[in-house]
Amino acid sequence: MNTKELNSNELPQHVAIIMDGNGRWAQKQGKLRIRGHEAGAEAVRKTVESAAKLGIKHLTLYAFSTENWRRPKTEVTTLMGLLVRSLRKELERMTENNIRLGAIGSLEQLPKKVQLELNEVILKTQDNTGTHLTLALSYGAREEIKQAVIEISQKVKNNIIPVESIDETIINKHLYTQNLPDVDLLIRTSGEVRISNFLLWQIAYAELYFTDELWPDFNEQSLHKAILSYQKRERRFGKTSEQLT
Ligand code: IPE
Ligand code: IPE
Ligand code: MG
Repeated sequence: MNTKELNSNELPQHVAIIMDGNGRWAQKQGKLRIRGHEAGAEAVRKTVESAAKLGIKHLTLYAFSTENWRRPKTEVTTLMGLLVRSLRKELERMTENNIRLGAIGSLEQLPKKVQLELNEVILKTQDNTGTHLTLALSYGAREEIKQAVIEISQKVKNNIIPVESIDETIINKHLYTQNLPDVDLLIRTSGEVRISNFLLWQIAYAELYFTDELWPDFNEQSLHKAILSYQKRERRFGKTSEQLT
């Protein structure tokens, strides 16, 4: 498959990916799980560059969930270390590719070292105008929604906003993703068919795409395949097919 098959006028504006299967990829090769995560980091780099090449405006990657803190301490520690190294290593390439980095999640839960590195790359890429890459780290959709409810409730309590003014726009403004449009295409690798607490509010009308491919094997062609599938679908948003034409 080549890019020509894709309609560049109908690209999803916001692609989100649940990058799953690093552990199984490693296990299949008789390697340690961390080797799978390293290969996964390589797949991240390739995918980000492919998305940038296509002109995808927003790419959001689920890299670590609030539930992933329950994993063995050694795996969590090595993952955090890998994150610091990858951020350090990728800064230059991100700049070359005009990529702007962002992050969503309970970022204060991350080790200080990760927070510092993350903030540095975010700052150094803030003026880039190409693909906006958002890493979901220590991210949980329920936590995000809970936190929005608390903030909005406080504003109501302090008479900053009236209850009647609460609408979808206000809720959107209190989510981590306040600067992002809704997700158009959600991809999950590794054959699991679940959402695992990712962007529950933002995927309300996303097209879902599941592939058996394990994350470290995901590449440019896999991304094109997912987008091609997206482009073959009719997004009706509740209307009838006739109303769309
Ligand atoms: C995804 O791969 C990466 C993270 C969740 C951090 P996994 O580590 O979940 O891989 P599997 O699902 O065990 O194969
Ligand atoms: C989802 O993968 C989280 C990330 C990809 C970061 P998991 O491997 O943690 O999901 P479950 O536990 O199988 O649902
Ligand atoms: Mg998994």
